[in-house]
Amino acid sequence: MIDDFASPTWADHHTQVSTNLAALFARVSRGLARLAGTLRFSRKTQTMSKMLLNQTVVVIGGGSGIGAAVARLASAEGARVVAISRSGIAPQGVEAIPADACDLHALGSAFATIGPIDHLVHTAGARTAATALPLLEMDALSLAFDTKVFSAIQAVRLALPHLSAQASITFTSGQVSRKYGTGSMVKGAVNAAVDAAGRHLAKELAPRRVNVISPGVVDTPTWGESGSAARLAFLARVADALPVRRVGTPEDLARAYLFAMTSGFVTGSVIDIDGGGLL
Ligand SMILES: NC(=O)c1ccc[n+]([C@@H]2O[C@H](COP(=O)([O-])OP(=O)(O)OC[C@H]3O[C@@H](n4cnc5c(N)ncnc54)[C@H](OP(=O)(O)O)[C@@H]3O)[C@@H](O)[C@H]2O)c1
Repeated sequence: MIDDFASPTWADHHTQVSTNLAALFARVSRGLARLAGTLRFSRKTQTMSKMLLNQTVVVIGGGSGIGAAVARLASAEGARVVAISRSGIAPQGVEAIPADACDLHALGSAFATIGPIDHLVHTAGARTAATALPLLEMDALSLAFDTKVFSAIQAVRLALPHLSAQASITFTSGQVSRKYGTGSMVKGAVNAAVDAAGRHLAKELAPRRVNVISPGVVDTPTWGESGSAARLAFLARVADALPVRRVGTPEDLARAYLFAMTSGFVTGSVIDIDGGGLL
């Protein structure tokens, strides 16, 4: 045995094994170094590619539907997000403040608690049923304007001391401002008022930017209980008539709000996200 170990054949074999092991270690080390570099790079690009890093976004109406999708997307893009709604519901990772947007005292206190704001988004709206004029009651008319028009204007007024110099403000209207029909007059007038308020404020508050997102029909709780036959039938009917053959999702809309928040050359715009509903 001793002879065997001492033989030139065994020595050659030993040398060969050592060389192979050294080469293997070198390859593994290079691979690990490359992997570490890739991980460092992807962490860096993930951080760099977040569009709202270190910014504060307030979504009035951020507890449901379109507003909740905006809150989720802004949070995923690195923002601190605060959702304001009466119920105080908010998506995961989003701060919630329960407040009625029509209650100016509550809204003012909410802004004082939040601190500096980079982007203010208003999506709150009353769920207004289509009503023919003879059946229209003053309460429904007031509620529609209070929740969507007056609260949006007052929210901007109250937020002004907290809005950063380059802040964006995004309102929400709707395609019925320019799609006319029986029973849609209240919603149409409300949404047209929002469009006009947004454009005027874009001039008055410059260089802060003010835009309006005008959704077509979007699948949200506003159209009834999730999965209910009435909601499904309505959405299917609308989808059939649209050039894109489907209704909008809250996520479709959220991307437009992100665009309005982050595009420094866009102000005074009413952006239609409606699957071609106005054509
Ligand atoms: N969905 C569509 O097809 C569609 C189409 C055109 C335009 N829009 C417009 O898009 C906006 C969002 O619609 P959506 O479908 O996402 O509605 P949604 O699911 O009913 O969500 C509305 C949000 O606003 C909040 N809100 C309502 N009244 C409020 C008040 N007085 N104070 C504070 N928060 C209030 C609600 O929470 P609380 O109830 O807890 O307060 C909820 O979080 C509305 O302005 C709507 O008119 C929607």
